[in-house]
Amino acid sequence: MHGVTGADLDERTIVIHDAEGFAGMRKAGRLAAEVLDMLVPHVQPGVSTLALDALAYEFILARGAVPATIFYRGYSHSLCTSVNHVICHGIPSERPLREGDIVNIDVTVVVDGWHGDTSRMYYVGTPPLKARRLVDLTFECLWRGIEAARPGARLGDIGHAIQTHAEKNRCSVVRDFCGHGLGRRFHMAPNVVHAGRPGTGPELVPGMFFTIEPMLNLGRPESKILEDGWTAVTRDRSLSAQFEHSVGITEDGVEVFTLSPAGLDRPPYPV
Ligand code: MF3
Ligand code: CO
Ligand code: CO
Repeated sequence: MHGVTGADLDERTIVIHDAEGFAGMRKAGRLAAEVLDMLVPHVQPGVSTLALDALAYEFILARGAVPATIFYRGYSHSLCTSVNHVICHGIPSERPLREGDIVNIDVTVVVDGWHGDTSRMYYVGTPPLKARRLVDLTFECLWRGIEAARPGARLGDIGHAIQTHAEKNRCSVVRDFCGHGLGRRFHMAPNVVHAGRPGTGPELVPGMFFTIEPMLNLGRPESKILEDGWTAVTRDRSLSAQFEHSVGITEDGVEVFTLSPAGLDRPPYPV
């Protein structure tokens, strides 16, 4: 289960990338983050998530890139927009956002064959304190995970860091979805689980690329998928939040490919 170098390897093999891969991921990650930056002023009461999706589509194509999610397993949008108790994979719709909603917007772009995958939470107006507290905690958990990622650490250390911080603050970590390796493909090995035991799983080595994308619920961790085949919601209808970065393990630590160039990494965003 350790990383191997090479091209024609199957999906269970963790690919180790070189400097060219880092350069490719920097460009893809930056564009994905720019999509999320561009959307900031548009996330307002009365705006539909379908309108946001159209803005993202135009922005991505105008920069010579493509959304990775269109035609991905039958999906047909550029964004996932997950509102309130939707955990992930919310499908953009005509329903207007409402004052007090929290929404995760997740985008993946392909630039010169490399995938940049990132998501952030947005506030619609001013959500209730418990919602903002969940969003803050989820952002902190993502960064606890990123800080646990370095050569010599193990994949389980990331999940452990996230789970410990979430549960200490009486929130639960979703188990049914996880982060993933990425690079020239959208989803590949390894699975990056967001709860786990330290010292378990594959050792992290320079050149591994993967996402960290914890989903936290105010209530219980269980999810269910709606009739549309995509939308994952909390079974107990409690609020859910998520943040995602694409990262690469370096010789001495970790590089985050999807940082916001505008400094808009978390809400509340300046008006
Ligand atoms: N971007 C999501 C992830 O973080 C995957 C979305 S797949 C879709 O892995 F088809 F739902 F868009
Ligand atoms: Co992802
Ligand atoms: Co994503």
